Amino acid sequence: IHPAAHLDPAAHLQQRVAVIGGGIIGLSTAWRLAQCGFAVTVYDRSSPGGEASWAGAGMLAPGGEVEDDSPLATAALASRRMYPEFVAELERASGCTIDYQECGALELAYTDSEWQELEHRAAAQKQLGISSKPIEQPSVHAFWPRVRTDSLKGARFYPGDAIVNPRDVVSALVKAMSGLRVTIAERCPVLEVAVNESSVEVRTVAGSGMAYCAAVLAAGAWSAEIRVAGVPALPFSEPVKGHLLGYLQPEQTCTTIIRRGRTYLLQRSNGMLLAGASVEMVGFDRQVKPDIVAELASDAGAILPHLNETTPTESWIGFRPSSDGLHVGPWHSERFFLAYGHYRNGILLAPWTAALLRDAIGSSLGTP
Ligand code: GLY
Repeated sequence: IHPAAHLDPAAHLQQRVAVIGGGIIGLSTAWRLAQCGFAVTVYDRSSPGGEASWAGAGMLAPGGEVEDDSPLATAALASRRMYPEFVAELERASGCTIDYQECGALELAYTDSEWQELEHRAAAQKQLGISSKPIEQPSVHAFWPRVRTDSLKGARFYPGDAIVNPRDVVSALVKAMSGLRVTIAERCPVLEVAVNESSVEVRTVAGSGMAYCAAVLAAGAWSAEIRVAGVPALPFSEPVKGHLLGYLQPEQTCTTIIRRGRTYLLQRSNGMLLAGASVEMVGFDRQVKPDIVAELASDAGAILPHLNETTPTESWIGFRPSSDGLHVGPWHSERFFLAYGHYRNGILLAPWTAALLRDAIGSSLGTP
């Protein structure tokens, strides 16, 4: 690919922004920037949305992911509130249907220590505005008839938790941007970025550098692999591998998220019931491991016993984009911005991240 192919020829330097990484974070950010009139080039090392955004379960679930008051908690709750309008706007702009379900989450405790932990967490979450209510065993049995209730110690329902199919979001973003000034440079790894006073140069495997007025680094677990000159060293990034399973099941088998400890279950509208997820520090190892698949299947069967009678239809892995925290905003320059470290919550945090970067870049450089 000739690098000039990545540039909108009519766009002046002051209108051009590079987004490095075409996952849900990079694509959402590109969409918001393009809506403001920027000419955006999205660089992806393979194909857009092909990594964590493809693998992710798509839980929009502060109830399962947030416990303490922290910047992540604030961002997660803000992004959760943004999701209904984000999905509606994206559906309108793209003409695509997005599988988004405001289904809530049932959290189960089968041991005393699980129950104590659940109650402790619910009390802390209440302070943050995350509501949940206890559900008695007969109600669990009545409303979730497939859930194992023998030796159930307690359960809570989180009405604010939801799910989205992240693959639908990615497809819709790509479609929505086809009518805007966005170029997606696929299979085009970025090697180097040079942040200067009046521009940012992005050099790819395709050849010499291209100049932009600003760049956003949103390459997930790969972010810190990119050499960046002209600013202090970047926060590290690393992959945290997760295995997931999919069981093709009759619709309405699992009408809410169901969680127990580190295990979660949810069902897409197309019937695919997902069970996740392992948490593994093994670098970029792409192998699907039969022992981990068996362990996840056993954990899923301990919640929905009928799954013990079947084998998963699919199993896959993804790399959560981990860092020492969430990095969203300018990095020692008014032209260079980070958008990584979303770890377990990248799908949830996409609307918030994109809006924050649109506003930050607009206030640093003005809109075209
Ligand atoms: N957000 C769930 C996970 O990372 O497994």
